[in-house]
Amino acid sequence: MRILGTGSTAAKKIVTNDDLAKTMETSDEWIRERTGIAQRHVAEADESPATLGAEASRRAIEMAKLSAEDIDLILVATASSMQRVPSISCQIQAIIGAANAACIDVNAACAGFMTALTMADAYLKAGAFNKVLVIGTETLSDMVDWTDRTSCILFGDGAGAVVVTAGGNDLIYSLGADGTKGDALSCQIGAGVVMDGKEVYRFATRTVPICMKDAMDKAGITPADIDVFLLHQANIRIIEAIAKSMKEPMEKFPVNIANYGNMSSASIPVLLDEQVRAGKINAGDRIIMSGFGAGLTYGACILVWS
Ligand code: UT7
Repeated sequence: MRILGTGSTAAKKIVTNDDLAKTMETSDEWIRERTGIAQRHVAEADESPATLGAEASRRAIEMAKLSAEDIDLILVATASSMQRVPSISCQIQAIIGAANAACIDVNAACAGFMTALTMADAYLKAGAFNKVLVIGTETLSDMVDWTDRTSCILFGDGAGAVVVTAGGNDLIYSLGADGTKGDALSCQIGAGVVMDGKEVYRFATRTVPICMKDAMDKAGITPADIDVFLLHQANIRIIEAIAKSMKEPMEKFPVNIANYGNMSSASIPVLLDEQVRAGKINAGDRIIMSGFGAGLTYGACILVWS
């Protein structure tokens, strides 16, 4: 798989920790210390998973030096759809004018981008499609209970996208889920997110290293062979714990959680786009991306940048 372009965006309105502290019993200090989050972006009425996903896609297609008509498949990872049909991928197709693309939505929550990327890989390997747009887009602000300080402080709204094609280096991955732990993080339609924070924390710090190790074993490499670890931006303490268990320095683990909070399936592609545009990921760099979340789901993908 070769990534031809990346793009990202976040909702326009910024809500700081101090803003939240005006409406609930919390503080900037508590949120920063426990999570690493300083602010999050929150969608307004004119923004949705489709509009954010479309903007991120436009930027990725532009970097790929393609036009929307060149895309033949759109895979959207999202848990934020507020309507059963049409899918977010169909809505994005209409906004960007990707008239030649088939459209599929995937819900694997915060492991969604990993899941969609592996599906793109399988379609490309099968020769079924040629230029695939893979998007992670979320407006989690629609789903949280804004009176629940234990969860609403965590989440934010944004989108990231990549355009991929066949060629380049093999995508090597490991995906999994533990449906028996579904109650640890759930959201009924019309109700707020319900989360057992400690359980999800334990799950992430235990399972992500095992999943990444599995992908590395398949690739025949060790953590020292990875140049950049792009982890789901859920909590800085989770990222630090995973870095420690990998015995790798935090310098290899870029973070942007302070600016965005947890954007679920959008977190990793937004971070990837920022790193690419900052010139921090270059040809030959071996990256690993790993996400975990509701389901509970998890996944890790390794790719040598080409
Ligand atoms: O994509 C996956 C999404 N989810 C996650 O990744 C969540 C993973 N879990 C976590 O990140 C952490 O468990 C949290 C950040 C959610 C919570 O951190 P914690 O260190 O596990 O805190 P806690 O739940 O043990 O709460 C400690 C105290 C409690 O008070 P008492 O019972 O000790 O008096 C909470 O009521 O902090 C209190 N608290 C708060 N205080 C100020 C909980 N939320 C807040 C808050 N502001 N926003």
